[in-house]
Amino acid sequence: MIRLASKNDYIAVFDSGVGGISVLRHLVRELPQERFWYYGDSANAPYGTRPTEQIRALTFAAAAHLMEQGIKALVLACNTATAAAAKALRAAYPELIIIGTEPALKVATDRFPGGTIAVLATPATLREGKFSRLVDRCAEECTLVRLPAPGLVELVESGRAESPETEALLAPLLAPWHGKLDAVVLGCTHYPFAASTIARLLGPGCAIIDGGPGIAAQTRRRLEQAGLLRTGEGALHWENSDPRLLELSKTLLKEG
Ligand code: DGL
Repeated sequence: MIRLASKNDYIAVFDSGVGGISVLRHLVRELPQERFWYYGDSANAPYGTRPTEQIRALTFAAAAHLMEQGIKALVLACNTATAAAAKALRAAYPELIIIGTEPALKVATDRFPGGTIAVLATPATLREGKFSRLVDRCAEECTLVRLPAPGLVELVESGRAESPETEALLAPLLAPWHGKLDAVVLGCTHYPFAASTIARLLGPGCAIIDGGPGIAAQTRRRLEQAGLLRTGEGALHWENSDPRLLELSKTLLKEG
């Protein structure tokens, strides 16, 4: 039995794994009085190299699980799950506040009109229609570079976000763009944890754009509009389909 949103309940934050913690850290700062339920599906990560149907099924299963906990909002802190499943989830659960994540391309194009902007994301996010529509809306006068980075999620999930392995994986992809980009949009919530390596490989003139703060602000707006903001003491509940990831999850939150 699925419980519907009610006052003073959890805000669920969902990702395929630990990546959504890069969003959670902004949510906790923006809404310290809220109770968060973070669920990472690391047993099934990465999502970004799976077919769309599988990503949708996994996201629906996670959403159903989270709704059983009594939640008032669901933050899909995952670009891949949002691209594959947000529309269908909103249609299936119109009464639930669902906040999705998409590459912060608008932030980049507003800041660098006519610039050269790269989007670093999973292969699934870059191939979905949702991304093409975003590009049509935002990137008219910009030069857009799509950079799929398979393998990076696995390194973050294994606690090696900033490591020689990350450097070795990303160097062939990013070094050719060193000094040539105005901005890189981190289009996967795992990637902010590798931001130092990404910044080093792209050079000092390239802005790193993370959508986390925008998602936190949007969550506040949606809850405010619905009269569902909580007062009192906040809390954070951790859950992962692979409990071995809980330790790393807590470390990543502190690093933010
Ligand atoms: N963190 C997810 C995102 O923002 C994707 C990770 C994955 O491939 O599982 O796209």
